[in-house]
Amino acid sequence: MKDLSKITEIEDLRRVAERKVPRMFYDYVDSGAWTETTYRNNETDFDRIKLKQRVLKDLSNRSLATQMLGQDVSMPVSIAPTGFTGMMWADGEIHAARAEKFGIPFSLSTMSICSIEDIATHVGTPFWFQLYVMKDHEFVNNIIRRAKAANCSALILTADLQVLGQRHKDIKNGLSAPPRPTLANILNLMTKPEWCMRMLGTKRRTFGNIVGHAKGVGDMASLSSWTNDQFDPSLSWDHVARIKDAWGGKLVIKGIMEPEDAILAAKSGADALVVSNHGGRQLDGAPSSIACLSEVVQAVKAENSNIEVWLDSGIRSGQDVLKAIALGASGTMIGRAFLYGLGAYGEDGVRRALEIIRHECDVTMGFCGLQDISHVGHDMLVPGTFETLKTYPPYLRAVDWR
Ligand code: GLV
Repeated sequence: MKDLSKITEIEDLRRVAERKVPRMFYDYVDSGAWTETTYRNNETDFDRIKLKQRVLKDLSNRSLATQMLGQDVSMPVSIAPTGFTGMMWADGEIHAARAEKFGIPFSLSTMSICSIEDIATHVGTPFWFQLYVMKDHEFVNNIIRRAKAANCSALILTADLQVLGQRHKDIKNGLSAPPRPTLANILNLMTKPEWCMRMLGTKRRTFGNIVGHAKGVGDMASLSSWTNDQFDPSLSWDHVARIKDAWGGKLVIKGIMEPEDAILAAKSGADALVVSNHGGRQLDGAPSSIACLSEVVQAVKAENSNIEVWLDSGIRSGQDVLKAIALGASGTMIGRAFLYGLGAYGEDGVRRALEIIRHECDVTMGFCGLQDISHVGHDMLVPGTFETLKTYPPYLRAVDWR
């Protein structure tokens, strides 16, 4: 195992990943839609929330252990489903799925490079599967069956990608898996010899859940047009009921930002919802995820629903995790934070990202005078720093726009 003791924060992993991963795949991860304002606000809004320092409280036997979907987790964190993960590092999803050893759940994306079956043969604990609903209903029914056969313990329905957010860099870079042999790509790949060597050592270089399973997608050349054309724009709450029936297990709906949708998610019988703006990759101009959390939590409570409320988008530290829990989430998902670790050092890097987040959670909880994650609530936050996240910051309101 690599000694990563000098890697002390997620930003260290990001910097290494930026150096080691081919430009198009690094850019795919590290970008948001259009102006990237929502992408940036996801992080900066966490910084606006301040923590209360409390002292002289018994801090022995601290515990971050809790449950997500009734499953024991060592901290309220899970690995978010992310596309192209096997392009950050060869066989990347298999390496990341080994986070199971850390006691947190792994979610596999429909748009992964390694297939559902690959993950099932490489990890011991059931993982979660994320579903994109495509127009090809036969493909959708079939992938649900494959997830069941692989013993996946939850289905995550991504609700915010009926249409695709425009990420300028992906278009400019000509994103594809594997990269096309253009001069620009060849020149960039020549600067990433370790990545290339690892890729030569694996057969998994395109979308393992799709190629060979969806009609008309036998090769990479037709794949990008297939994905552009195939996300189902008619997806609605009626489909959710049908998907829930076909799946028959725990269901998570990801991409809820407004109380109205939270109530519909609760009424749909889903087991959890994720407050998420897809990491700022879809609706640029939406508020940050953390700004939307409290209203969603209150709306669900008013319905007397047991649906779990989780949060993703913007989490880069254990303090961010705690702030989400303090504002009422019972779990979180991390995407970029683990992808930076993966791109930097493979499985060791994912483990290091999780160690960093766990340590930051643990020590911060101590500084705030708390021993157990179940005691984390909004009373650990400084009043006035979290109630108005969804409104303009005061300095903007003071501007005379005339
Ligand atoms: C897909 O999930 C993406 O955000 O690219």
